[in-house]
Amino acid sequence: MHNPFNPYQPAEGPLFANRKREQEWFARDFIPSLAPDSLGTYNAAILGPWGIGKSSLVRQLRFMTVAMAADQPAMAFLSCTAGFGSLMGVCAAIVNTLRQEVLRLSRWDQALMDELDRWSFEFRVPGLSARRQQRKTPENTVSAAEFLRQALLHLWEKAFRALGYGVIIVLDDVNLLQTIDPNALMLLRAVFQDLHMYHARYALVVTGPTDLFSGVRDIAEPLTRFFEHLTLTALSRDDVGGAIREPIRASGVPLRVDDDAVSWIWERTQGHPYFVTYMMHYVFQTAIDQGWDRITPTRLQTQWPNTMARLARSKFMDDWNAATPSEQQALLALAQGHAGVANRGLVTRLIRKGLVTKIDRGQYRLYHPLFQEYVLAIALAPP
Ligand SMILES: Nc1ncnc2c1ncn2[C@@H]1O[C@H](COP(=O)(O)OP(=O)(O)OP(=O)(O)O)[C@@H](O)[C@H]1O
Ligand SMILES: [Mg+2]
Repeated sequence: MHNPFNPYQPAEGPLFANRKREQEWFARDFIPSLAPDSLGTYNAAILGPWGIGKSSLVRQLRFMTVAMAADQPAMAFLSCTAGFGSLMGVCAAIVNTLRQEVLRLSRWDQALMDELDRWSFEFRVPGLSARRQQRKTPENTVSAAEFLRQALLHLWEKAFRALGYGVIIVLDDVNLLQTIDPNALMLLRAVFQDLHMYHARYALVVTGPTDLFSGVRDIAEPLTRFFEHLTLTALSRDDVGGAIREPIRASGVPLRVDDDAVSWIWERTQGHPYFVTYMMHYVFQTAIDQGWDRITPTRLQTQWPNTMARLARSKFMDDWNAATPSEQQALLALAQGHAGVANRGLVTRLIRKGLVTKIDRGQYRLYHPLFQEYVLAIALAPP
């Protein structure tokens, strides 16, 4: 029996629940914009805090695109990392992923493979390797942009145009590219805008934290207009019901979930998808082991100490250890409701680490009540 609740991987297909508004936009606007007769592709930025379901939504976009489009459009997925090292490294990774996609769609045609190898020589910008180490210099930005523009145009003309459909490029966690070079997002915008002018039909989809654009003020405005913003927030009570019942239905296990049990989980998790999936992973396992036919609040209650202990080991302990001793004192003060105790610098650092969220001017709280419960517990019995 496969457990349909997997907190370690993004969800898609039958295991994906909710996000109706975003899925409607994909179905009505985004996917049709890839069609050969459309007037131009759209770009999207999927924004939201840690674990809210950004990667799941881009996986679901892939699932929907395959299901909706008559021919399979090309789709290149790239999880971003600071390990790309430089803007040129980022651009090379994008081009490489697209080349793999060309080969996949052509079923690894040998003649095309040979041709692509020849193109890679053409893409080499003269003098590039010598400049590669000079990170953040204007020349490097220009060469990386030039390389990306040329390579994408080339791939469009030689391979993708014939397929008719636009090409989707997904950059998951695009904020990590900003740590390599603060110009990264502006570079992408410039290149993709030019490609649009040449009728090379690429659609860019990025994911990142809620403040992806507001964090870099002088670039916020042009970038804001370039992307349709899909901002993900916590699930409503009804959504939590869907997130619990739909995967159970997909698993085929005859297990009913009481409405009170949905409310119980919603209250504990505050509708945070990661915590819902994490909790349900163990509830489902226990239901199978013990032959339950129903999930009730009483049964959830008996499970709870075990789930909380697992969450502490696999998540909250790391969160706590990511804070310095003075930050830990601030976390404790906030957890105990002494909002004024923590100084601003500390709070700003905790927000950047994703451990604290701002609720209003001068008002902060820990990022989730379950983490608050953990912090209050270790104040009584340090880990
Ligand atoms: N719409 C959904 N339907 C079902 N499960 C979901 C959904 N969204 C998120 N989840 C669950 O929540 C967990 C976290 O989701 P995901 O990895 O997509 O979040 P994220 O925003 O990309 O997180 P991160 O900020 O760490 O990259 C996943 O394990 C997934 O199982
Ligand atoms: Mg993710």
